[in-house]
Amino acid sequence: MTYQRFFSHAAAQMRESAIRKMGTLGTRIPDLISFAPGYPDPATFPRDRFQEIAASLLSGSDGSTLQYGPTRGFRPLVEALDSILLSRAIVSRFEQRLITSGSQQGLDLVAKVLIDPGDAVLVELPTYAGAISVFSNALADMVGVPQEDDGIDLAALDHTVARLRREGRRVRLLYLVPNFQNPTGLLIGLDKRRALLDWAERADVLIVEDDPYGDLYFPDSATAEETRPIKADDHGGRVVYLSSFSKTLAPGFRTAWVVAPEALAAKLEIAKQATDLCTGALDQRVVHQAIVQGVLAGLAPHLRAHYQAKCAVMQEAIERDLGGLVTCAPARGGFFLWATLPPQVDADSLLPRALAAAVTYVAGGAFFVDDGGANTLRLSFSQPTHDRIREGITRLAGAIRAELEAQSTPSRDNGISVPRG
Ligand SMILES: Cc1ncc(COP(=O)(O)O)c(C=O)c1O
Repeated sequence: MTYQRFFSHAAAQMRESAIRKMGTLGTRIPDLISFAPGYPDPATFPRDRFQEIAASLLSGSDGSTLQYGPTRGFRPLVEALDSILLSRAIVSRFEQRLITSGSQQGLDLVAKVLIDPGDAVLVELPTYAGAISVFSNALADMVGVPQEDDGIDLAALDHTVARLRREGRRVRLLYLVPNFQNPTGLLIGLDKRRALLDWAERADVLIVEDDPYGDLYFPDSATAEETRPIKADDHGGRVVYLSSFSKTLAPGFRTAWVVAPEALAAKLEIAKQATDLCTGALDQRVVHQAIVQGVLAGLAPHLRAHYQAKCAVMQEAIERDLGGLVTCAPARGGFFLWATLPPQVDADSLLPRALAAAVTYVAGGAFFVDDGGANTLRLSFSQPTHDRIREGITRLAGAIRAELEAQSTPSRDNGISVPRG
């Protein structure tokens, strides 16, 4: 029996995430070096501390540890966000905060509360693929706005909104990842952040600011001040701010948070009630203890140095093996390098050749809502070791050179065989 006729309109057009698909593929190829997923390095997880905290929580003295909890979140955790938010210059009240099961759920709740089918949602070109999935499941019509070196192009933003409104379209949302964007690593400049707030006011649009990477600036090339969230200067209540413990403590806790104007936070809470009732009680308590015991604060400088070193290794390897062939802006934080291939090389078509060489990445097209980015790719340096990063780039360089060679001597057999494992 086929089930197509039972599907909702939303389900009928749902597509598997390109990144998750790459993850599944990878498990079948022996010795694969994957630059695909934006996973933190498990070597950074403070397991011993988590073990102590969890053991104490599970000792049985607190009956609520394994119980349902409030939808807003475990109150001490919601309160403990104070110090984190203040360190990012965000002043907020308890009523404006909500704990979510990952920022991914935060995005999904925002879409449930703010988007009607057919609404235009403004996104960067390129943008986070997980947000594309959320907005597309909400049956939004995503409209891409190009980036400049210091972030989204404000003039293009103005033109786009004016055009959409002339066409009678409803535009109420702009989605941004201002700090070390997934996928490009781009940091939006401080002047532009302020200009975006003015723009949001003028255009009567809300900004959804997604900030999982702000803490992970590289000390040699960026400062904490440069990561100041747009939300920090949001006096008009224009910004819904999302952040997460996934890239710092561990994604397995699925613990993240939203800060929104009070009326919006209340709606998000109602939407969350129907989604999961509450985020995991044990997870929230472990994360809370990791904050109050100073685990998170102690970890942050180490993480910055750790990922900075990995990024430098990848950049050097690209320079050595792919210099002159691939352009790649240096990253100043986060997990990603964004590479542009020669125009005639399509990153999707290159993939079988890369997999045959046991290396993988995410083809850039997954991050574009306008069919652009065919010759771009996202390389995540966060997970592999230094040696594996070097080896992976050598393999990738071999695949790109072989592709260029095949293009210059066309034949019917492309000579690619993907190893099976
Ligand atoms: C920009 C961005 N937003 C949201 C998420 C989802 O994070 P979480 O693990 O908190 O759901 C990610 C994860 O890669 C991300 O890169």
